[in-house]
Amino acid sequence: MTDASSTPAIPVTIYRSDYRAPEWQVPDIALDFALGIDATKVGAALSVVRQADAPVPLTLRGDGLTPAAVRVDGEVWNDWRMDGSDLIVDLGERSAATVEVDTVIDPASNTQLSGLYASGGLLCTQCEAEGFRRITFHPDRPDVLSRYKVRMQGDKAAFPILLSNGNCIEQGEEGSDHWALWEDPWPKPSYLFALVAGDLVVNKDSFTTTSGREVELGIWVRGGDVERTGHAMQALKDSMKWDEEVYGREYDLDLFNIVAVSDFNMGAMENKGLNVFNTRYILADPDTATDVDYDGVEGVVAHEYFHNWSGNRVTCRDWFQLSLKEGFTVFRDQSFSADMGSPPVKRIEDVRLLRAAQFPEDAGPLAHPIRPDSFQEISNFYTATIYNKGAEIIRMMATMVGPERFRKGTDLYFDRHDGEAATCEDFVRAIEEGAGIDLAQFRRWYEQAGTPRLKLSLVEDEGAWSLDVVQTVPPTPGQPEKQPMMMPLRLAAFAMDGSGDALADTLVTITGATQRIALGKFVGRPALSVNRGFSAPIIVDFERGPGELAWLAAHDDDPFARYEALQQLMLDTLVAAVSGKTGDNQAVIDAVGQTLAGAGNDPAFVAEAVLLPSEAFAGDQMVTVDPDAIRRERLALQAAIGAALETKWRAILAGSAPPATDLSRKAKGGRRLRGVALAYLAATGADDAPALAFRIFSDADGMTERQAALATLAHGDSDERAHALDIFYQRYRDNPLVLDKWFQVQAWSLRADTVDAVKALAQHPDFTLANPNRVRSLYGALTGNQAAFHQADGAGYRLIAELVIALDPKNPQTSAKMIPSLGRWKRFDDARQALMKAELERILAQPGLSRDVTEQASKSLVG
Ligand code: BES
Ligand code: ZN
Repeated sequence: MTDASSTPAIPVTIYRSDYRAPEWQVPDIALDFALGIDATKVGAALSVVRQADAPVPLTLRGDGLTPAAVRVDGEVWNDWRMDGSDLIVDLGERSAATVEVDTVIDPASNTQLSGLYASGGLLCTQCEAEGFRRITFHPDRPDVLSRYKVRMQGDKAAFPILLSNGNCIEQGEEGSDHWALWEDPWPKPSYLFALVAGDLVVNKDSFTTTSGREVELGIWVRGGDVERTGHAMQALKDSMKWDEEVYGREYDLDLFNIVAVSDFNMGAMENKGLNVFNTRYILADPDTATDVDYDGVEGVVAHEYFHNWSGNRVTCRDWFQLSLKEGFTVFRDQSFSADMGSPPVKRIEDVRLLRAAQFPEDAGPLAHPIRPDSFQEISNFYTATIYNKGAEIIRMMATMVGPERFRKGTDLYFDRHDGEAATCEDFVRAIEEGAGIDLAQFRRWYEQAGTPRLKLSLVEDEGAWSLDVVQTVPPTPGQPEKQPMMMPLRLAAFAMDGSGDALADTLVTITGATQRIALGKFVGRPALSVNRGFSAPIIVDFERGPGELAWLAAHDDDPFARYEALQQLMLDTLVAAVSGKTGDNQAVIDAVGQTLAGAGNDPAFVAEAVLLPSEAFAGDQMVTVDPDAIRRERLALQAAIGAALETKWRAILAGSAPPATDLSRKAKGGRRLRGVALAYLAATGADDAPALAFRIFSDADGMTERQAALATLAHGDSDERAHALDIFYQRYRDNPLVLDKWFQVQAWSLRADTVDAVKALAQHPDFTLANPNRVRSLYGALTGNQAAFHQADGAGYRLIAELVIALDPKNPQTSAKMIPSLGRWKRFDDARQALMKAELERILAQPGLSRDVTEQASKSLVG
């Protein structure tokens, strides 16, 4: 069913420089909901106070709403009109009033999953960024903060549980109905409002804060799922404790609820005291969730909890400041996960994600600074740049001042802006003053898009070595010229000859377009360890031979730098092979073999380090991406490493897997390494590989081993493949999150017929466009499968364009997220460019396209 209330595509650009303070504030709101799946009546009473000196009408934003009645100070009011979808109320000379508006909405037909919608009999809300205006008329901007009182009433059998923000202060019954009154004492912007009603069961627990507040914790799920909420609950308690210890931030209500829903556009949402989650970031047990899923639950629970301070107590003045809350909160959840597990492995994962998702964005037509200057549809700006580059920019400030001074900065930020809607500039100024550092030049990170490049060269003068640095920031759309950035560069240098000469770990601040850094005396050219820990989110161009990289991979004392050295060695080898140079794989094989020797101590690190760079990352190193050659050469290198080290892979697989219930670092690392070993072994084409994979699949006592074996089988065409896919489907067909994996492994397959397979799977009875997780597991996985998506005949592009067109009328937010994959056309050969652009044009030619898709497709086409 299409959503009649979707916003028509009028490409209006909104500029950051146009910000004006609100003309009216709304200190208090009372909402009254008469709940029904296909008709919910909403009564809103807004106490409004004029901020402007002169009389000005009150503009309330609406999206798909019609006012059934308007009252002012209790009187029926006729002085209002509609301006497009907005309600303009003329309040005459009044400087304060109570404005009441009644509306009726239809949650069942809300397929956009924004506003109040129905998800399998449950009613729930999603208001960020601009969904509140789909529930009732309101200024709906984050610098309007209100205290909320929410009354809801509904059929007791249909909606036995009634939840909103804050505390439940009263409840009662009326015939077959019941009602509840909720009050949130903390003023909040409308995007943090939430309501949930339905048949839910709870996992209850409690947490006592440092100052002695007893907080009741609840995780609400469908009956039958409550057994799978233990990990999320532990993650919540760990997060609460961590934020007290590391940032000095305590929780501020007596109740903290989380609700898990199946139909959700994003991962989760930080509504005050009532987080709403995608089930995939709450539910986990060893039989159905992988170790990666477990870590996802922990990280997302932490992220949303941390927003209680970085986002809710201090919120954003406007949506251009989104990175203020998201970049900072991602940095906080990354730090938390590092502390809960292995810091180097977490850093490797975060950098891998940055390179996979953010670097391409920063190099493409949709590049934007972490604080954008303009947008058409804010939903399109929940990007890897705002989130992950935003987190890197906070991390650089923390690196430059060290943990104690950074804490002084964040303390000042929270104290100074508590209860306010703040800006990125407010944050930088608080760090500047609290930590005592001049960030004047550093502010360019908020203004300039594009990934900076440092070109490095070593120079020698009478045995004294220096590093010459040349910094460039590439042009991006609307920003042809760039200024040099300020960044922390961690480095060290070693003598490879065993003389003991070394420059110990040093933090240098880069500020110039060119800069010379003294390294000290070395007898010969030193091995340079640079951008250690990925201290700056940049690309380093530095010529290093395989011998030096292999030496660093074995000897560098920074684990991240060891990982980087091995990855660089693999990447150089792969790129050389793709550009037709007859490869010498020996250095890579030796280095992987060496690294494997350390597997006993830290299997998780070793598993990350010996993994080949992705096809997409290899493509990013080329002038023109050749997806077929990359696929071919990467498989060949994998086979060569697999064959040369076959006994080692077999030895890893010969041992038994740690029990799936063991979630220790070591056990997770062991399972990860077994998955990598199986992939290498299978790549050799060894006759017994499918049978071995099938045995691991069948014997697995948990999803990590099971999914790894299934994914490996899915690349081949053995009988075991079909058999395993069938067993998996039959066993998990009633579990949507696991069924997503079944779709996903097939869309990730390295087989030549994957595009056709995806096309067929889209017709499978279990496939549906109504569930964003399902859409991502099939089509999202395909766009991440480089050689398949870029199949030379354009079938992959066509499939994605058809999806965008079919999904847009139902769920424009999720539809628009698929477009950036088509927008990377400049990186490909002429034939592929033409095919990709043709699909973007076909999308844009659709009548009635959403603003979301229009913005992304038109910007992508311009290039
Ligand atoms: N505030 C967002 C969720 C959101 C954004 C909902 C835009 C609706 C529209 C939330 O805090 C968030 O960032 N969630 C992430 C997960 C996080 C761990 C990065 C998400 O949903 O992907
Ligand atoms: Zn967030």
